Amino acid sequence: MVSFPILRPRRLRLFKSFRDSVAETTLKVEDFIVPVFVKEGISQPEPISSMPGCFRWPLNKLVEHVTSLLELKLDKILLFGIPKDKDEVGSQAYAKDGIVQRAIRLLRREIGLDVTIFTDVCLCQYTTHGHCGIITKVKRGDAEFWVVDNDKSIELMGKIAVSHAEAGADFVAPSSMMDGVVGAIRKALDDEGYGDVGIMSYSAKYASSFYGPFREAAYSAPKFGDRRGYQMDPRNAMEALKEVKLDVEEGADILMVKPALAYLDIIRLVKDVFPEYPLAAYNVSGEYSMVKAAGEKGWVNEKLITFEILNAIKRAGADLIISYHSIEVAKWIREGFNPF
Ligand code: PBG
Repeated sequence: MVSFPILRPRRLRLFKSFRDSVAETTLKVEDFIVPVFVKEGISQPEPISSMPGCFRWPLNKLVEHVTSLLELKLDKILLFGIPKDKDEVGSQAYAKDGIVQRAIRLLRREIGLDVTIFTDVCLCQYTTHGHCGIITKVKRGDAEFWVVDNDKSIELMGKIAVSHAEAGADFVAPSSMMDGVVGAIRKALDDEGYGDVGIMSYSAKYASSFYGPFREAAYSAPKFGDRRGYQMDPRNAMEALKEVKLDVEEGADILMVKPALAYLDIIRLVKDVFPEYPLAAYNVSGEYSMVKAAGEKGWVNEKLITFEILNAIKRAGADLIISYHSIEVAKWIREGFNPF
């Protein structure tokens, strides 16, 4: 027998009702942003094979889909467009009648202001080469190589953002990790009279293999090379602070860390250093599909593990969670599901 008085933290967790009273984290439906893929040229929702339970939506079913989200109190969406035609410079990304611009107009007309519309601002779904900017060949001495032309690309991002704002977006979300992209977008929006349209910046976005299923969903994999020359190195944490600080200085309203699950330390770091900024975490496609696959095999309890992951993301410091699990979680929360 031990002879000293044992301190007993377990007193606080003996019974469920009291555990709930002292829980530090509670998931709410309001925490979630639902990614929505809109695809040009289809008339029925298309199941995404790499992401069970997720669909590419046609314009003619979009209002119905978003209305069903609102019924669950999911009132924030992040729109991704999948155009019919791609070209070298991604011109469908800023076309007035591009798929995203049409989707935004339609939702504003049919649903009004009850839904907050975030839009992904990037080029990879729209370019034939699949990179997130304009590419150019450069020389270093006699050697030649392809790079993304940073400054040309951010100018174009400004144009894309303005086209989304013109259609009625609330927040634009630049995901290219180009230097100066937030500043370029802020200036373009302000110059065109869209000072009220906000920026949710993918501030610390890592060059991650967790994006695999998304690239299949959106046909956006790079045709050559990879994104390591613009997205962050997964080995770095402090560098995230540099990226976030620049976005703050350039005028970001909401910060983001992406992916979420393997980057909980970055979420915590950014929240601690910039507590005055709302922080979003992107629970990306690979995180989602791994849970689905293991759940299908019966290797994990899918519902419990999903809830645990999302609580962990919130506990780490996220105020907003962008997740493909949003719909199922909203239903569980409504049912009062609480496994803890
Ligand atoms: C576009 C973009 C990507 C994701 C969101 N925006 C893919 C990428 O950077 O290759 C990934 C989202 C996910 O995996 O769920 N740049």
